[in-house]
Amino acid sequence: MECTCRDDNLCELTEYIKGVFNPEHPQSALIAILHHAQGMYGYLSRDVMEHIAQVTEVPAAEIYGVATFYSFFKHTPQGKHQIHVCMGTACYIRGGAKLLETLEDMLNIKPGETTEDMLFTLGETRCIGACGLAPVMMIDDKVYGRVEPEQLKGILDEYRTEMQA
Ligand code: FES
Repeated sequence: MECTCRDDNLCELTEYIKGVFNPEHPQSALIAILHHAQGMYGYLSRDVMEHIAQVTEVPAAEIYGVATFYSFFKHTPQGKHQIHVCMGTACYIRGGAKLLETLEDMLNIKPGETTEDMLFTLGETRCIGACGLAPVMMIDDKVYGRVEPEQLKGILDEYRTEMQA
């Protein structure tokens, strides 16, 4: 396993890989390695995936294949806060689509995109099991239930204020 680290983060990632990688079963630790890398960088850049390929000697195409197969791996820089609007059936029929549309207008981004100030990334989610509270959205790990479009500005402002504090 050769490492040509260009910065401390890559050295740390290399050390992690050395700890979990088993050359006998090169694919077995890939998901854990990609998770760890995403935790460090917030997303998986091409450079980071190429570094993983170089250290593990797993072909880069295989690394990209795994990273793009799972939706929880991100390939662009993510906002500080992740907004997910539930598009499950119960939420959808109780106004989830309207919530998403309002957020798109307020933030001027589409699902999958991040605001220019890097504060919010917008996304959709499937049912999170809180259908009784439909329509539901999450910001990071916090669940907001029975959300009305009129409440959205106040909710987002809480996160904007936190950034200025
Ligand atoms: S459909 Fe939204 S929480 Fe179940």
